[in-house]
Amino acid sequence: MRLLQHLFVQNRQWSDEIKKADPSFFQRLSLHQSPYILWIGCADSRVPANQIVNLPPGDLFVHRNIANLVVHTDLNCLSVIQYAVEVLKVKHIIVCGHYGCGGVKASLEDKDHGLIDNWLRHIKDVYRFHKSELDAMDSEKKFDRLCELNIREQVVNVCNTTVVRKAWRSGISLTVHGWIYSIEDGLLRDLDICITNEAELPTSE
Ligand code: CO
Repeated sequence: MRLLQHLFVQNRQWSDEIKKADPSFFQRLSLHQSPYILWIGCADSRVPANQIVNLPPGDLFVHRNIANLVVHTDLNCLSVIQYAVEVLKVKHIIVCGHYGCGGVKASLEDKDHGLIDNWLRHIKDVYRFHKSELDAMDSEKKFDRLCELNIREQVVNVCNTTVVRKAWRSGISLTVHGWIYSIEDGLLRDLDICITNEAELPTSE
């Protein structure tokens, strides 16, 4: 391997450090995983799930895509949710977006971005659902607010999946959260969206 050799060096250092503190860490982890949280986040390199909440390997099951979208026909995301809920039996699903999201920003532009515009269309739909509120804002505020509203809509989408509905109807304890992360200060903010059953789902607006 001629390229990216430094990453193998760094990996060895990282692994050695963990083993120094806890010699059986990887051995234990190799036997099984039992994460209690599913994290659905943006693919943005500045929003690394485990690091943000300072959790070690094994504690978070993670799905990331551009702009943390949960699309009803996305078999990738739906499979992650099903596996997390039905097999791993996670107790929490967190949709964590972030301010300054490039996907959200691109959705606000009247520009051709190629293939990705089909994906970003889902964020344009979120805009349409909240058009009157967003149209009244200046562009900076609108950008921040759309990042928040997008998370809220994706939380609703998670709650409306057959997997989550079935879990709730079976009496399984499962909470869906909406969080937002700020790249500027490295802090998470709770959007005060915390849904534990079907009755708590917001009705359509
Ligand atoms: Co983003």
